[in-house]
Amino acid sequence: MKYEKEINRRKTFAIISHPDAGKTTLTEKFLLFGGAIQTAGAVKSNKIKKHATSDFMEIERQRGISVATSVMTFEYHDHLINLLDTPGHKDFAEDTYRTLTAVDSVVLVIDSVNGVEAQTRRLMEVCRMRDTPVIVFINKMDRDGKNRFDLLEEIEKELSLPLHPMTWPINSGKDFKGVYNLHDKSLLLFTANTKAEEEDSVVIEDLDDKVLDEKVGEKDASQLREDAELIEGVYGELNVQNYLDGKVAPVFFGSAINNFGVKELLDTFIRIAPVPRSRETTKRMLSVGEDKFSGFVFKIHANLDPKHRDRIAFLRVCSGRFERNKYYHHVRIDKEMRFSNPYSFLARSKDIIEDAYPGDVVGLFDTGNFKIGDTLTEGEDFYFTGIPSFSPEIFKELVNKDPMKTKQLEKGVSQLTDEGVAQLFTQFGGNKKIIGCVGELQFEVIQYRLLQEYGAACEFRALPFYKACWLTSNNAAKLEDFLRFKQQNSAEDKDGHPVYLAQSEWFLNTEIQNNPDIQFHFTSEIH
Ligand code: G4P
Repeated sequence: MKYEKEINRRKTFAIISHPDAGKTTLTEKFLLFGGAIQTAGAVKSNKIKKHATSDFMEIERQRGISVATSVMTFEYHDHLINLLDTPGHKDFAEDTYRTLTAVDSVVLVIDSVNGVEAQTRRLMEVCRMRDTPVIVFINKMDRDGKNRFDLLEEIEKELSLPLHPMTWPINSGKDFKGVYNLHDKSLLLFTANTKAEEEDSVVIEDLDDKVLDEKVGEKDASQLREDAELIEGVYGELNVQNYLDGKVAPVFFGSAINNFGVKELLDTFIRIAPVPRSRETTKRMLSVGEDKFSGFVFKIHANLDPKHRDRIAFLRVCSGRFERNKYYHHVRIDKEMRFSNPYSFLARSKDIIEDAYPGDVVGLFDTGNFKIGDTLTEGEDFYFTGIPSFSPEIFKELVNKDPMKTKQLEKGVSQLTDEGVAQLFTQFGGNKKIIGCVGELQFEVIQYRLLQEYGAACEFRALPFYKACWLTSNNAAKLEDFLRFKQQNSAEDKDGHPVYLAQSEWFLNTEIQNNPDIQFHFTSEIH
């Protein structure tokens, strides 16, 4: 493999969690270990501040800072780590889901007090679709959390994810004394509000060692001996291949804010997390080691300056070497393009780069040529598969308020939907434009941006739909009949694929039952 050395030193991943579980705090500790930042507090939270004037203005503020934190690259023990940020707000979950297509593994943060939460479930569903390897970090052990055995059972059951404890906590809350590392048999002692230093770690040859009693007291020492025996009996050594196949998730306990248990997590991550791997395309399996460059766009970020509609397209490199100023083939529009100012992302600044390798994310200036899922190659035509579009949950009709600006409105809607802010459906027959979003806030964002960036005024009229399903069938005539018969509920998406808009679960189930020749899909792959 021509670029073997570069590929094998890269790890590209995302930290995911339900808001408030500790994603930002953990990110910051990782960056401190990587030397990418010097002080705590340097990473801006991308979640909605609690007392902000309005959620929506807060989102606009975030758009400004989030380009810089979209990808955080740092080095740790000769590894180059690309940490991809994911939006915290649930209304922007789709952006997170797409980012997950560009990573090779994830770290899932769970709050030990709250356990599995709504957003955790949805994120894990996406990971499971791709068998993404997951490491779990159970955070906030300094607070009185759930019983740890119950917590493990809850996670395993609710997320259908078999777990494998790597460390084991001694109590929680004010009695939290530390974690025992089941892998290298060391004991890490916890002192509140201090950073874990090397000297707080005690290596125990044997759990019967009296040092354990000295350090944590007899009662907790004997409890730990009992727990450790039980866990070792049940779990044994971690099977790394099972982790890489997404079949088992190693678990760490700690407290991100106290920088406790984070180094253990990071060291294991470095040891076992996957390097960039081969990927499926519409044409063939693309080997990560191929000499020729290829990559795909998983996110598009519009600049804040309304006078320039420049955008940044985030491209994940999948094979070969990306070079500045070299011509590449844009598969969808069949055009050769070169990029003179590609960005790389460091913790706080954007740097122009000369080249990039598989696993890296490059920011490309875009004046409207890209949409999510686009592929660049050295000439071959294919797309990467498995980049999902999810069924939106709220639907509204787009009403043009200013007929003089129809063109601008159409352009704006087209570009915003290319960015993946929302999905656009056009009703069959009626030509009604329907915008589908995951959250209410996105409608506000669209209305605001259409006016600010395109000078087009619009309004939204609520529609009584509950889900959009993509339709496929081997029987073209049946599908056509269905669409004609259900005209009020039929539309096409931006790529011309037929979609059924269901008013309720009952209607949807009835149609599914009545039309065995038609398949109803809740996600559509962009390719
Ligand atoms: P998020 O990105 O997942 O939304 O979570 P974030 O890191 O912002 O953490 C959410 C809150 O939890 C923060 O408090 C943070 O300080 C706290 N936190 C993180 N890790 C731990 C931990 O190990 N133990 C405890 N007890 N708390 C932790 P906040 O009050 O919401 O924000 P802030 O005002 O402290 O920034």
